[in-house]
Amino acid sequence: MASSGSPAPCGRLCLSQASLAWLGATLLLLADCVLLRPALPRIFSLLVTALVGPNGSGKSTVAALLQNLYQPTGGQLLLDGKPLPQYEHHYLHQWVAAVGQEPQLFGRSFQENIAYGLIQKPTMEKVIAAAMKAGAHSFISELPQGYDTEVGEAGNQLSGGQRQAVALARALIRNPYVLILDDATSALDANSQLRVEQLLYESPERYSRSVLLITQRLSSVEQADHILFLDGGTICEAGTHQQLMKNKGRYWAMVQAPGGSGAPE
Ligand SMILES: Nc1ncnc2c1ncn2[C@@H]1O[C@H](COP(=O)(O)OP(=O)(O)OP(=O)(O)O)[C@@H](O)[C@H]1O
Ligand SMILES: [Mg+2]
Repeated sequence: MASSGSPAPCGRLCLSQASLAWLGATLLLLADCVLLRPALPRIFSLLVTALVGPNGSGKSTVAALLQNLYQPTGGQLLLDGKPLPQYEHHYLHQWVAAVGQEPQLFGRSFQENIAYGLIQKPTMEKVIAAAMKAGAHSFISELPQGYDTEVGEAGNQLSGGQRQAVALARALIRNPYVLILDDATSALDANSQLRVEQLLYESPERYSRSVLLITQRLSSVEQADHILFLDGGTICEAGTHQQLMKNKGRYWAMVQAPGGSGAPE
């Protein structure tokens, strides 16, 4: 079993015929599929994989499976070729960071929320750097108590977008090798969303992590290395934006639909 002192994983996350039965209600059946595949050696770009699809198609469930929050009822999930349950919880969370649709904060200060779960207390510079990347620094620094301000019970004194920005900072400060963003920027304002997109696609960090980007905002997945379209728990289309647009299939239809990204073919 990998220990917390083990080297970082390469970030190769793979679903091997993984399926999950929800008490007979829904069956997620994911065919063999490498979700996040970094090219080695590391000087090559790691992948940004986008997972898109209609509501209830199973995107968050895939994210939960990848975090080892659920065990698949069939098949397995592999990180660097090894089943996820074989990793220590702490090890996984050291390298795999996820921000969910409705992130939970703790009734502590901003600083403690961003540093939450780290073994070594980070320097204030690191906390601020992560907050800046996530678009949280400007509103935190405007508060009289700054990073020492308490966020209220479960962060209830913050707006949805502010909660997301703090949760994003908490994930980024870990420098994760695998970053899972499950609709994690939906409440951010346009500027902050743009900053996060630049972080995913243009920053030097792009070369040191794999990203699974789940979003309804199709314009933000156009640059992804790989787009997976999920429906009814099954990946029914996969490719780049250009390939999927050419196919004129489900992804194309979603882009064309009112409220889609409206991206030209
Ligand atoms: N804990 C659970 N128990 C039973 N069914 C569940 C559970 N979690 C999710 N489901 C079901 O699994 C299906 C997929 O849900 P999931 O949350 O993964 O969809 P999603 O693609 O993330 O949707 P959205 O775009 O709305 O976020 C849904 O039909 C949902 O009702
Ligand atoms: Mg979801």
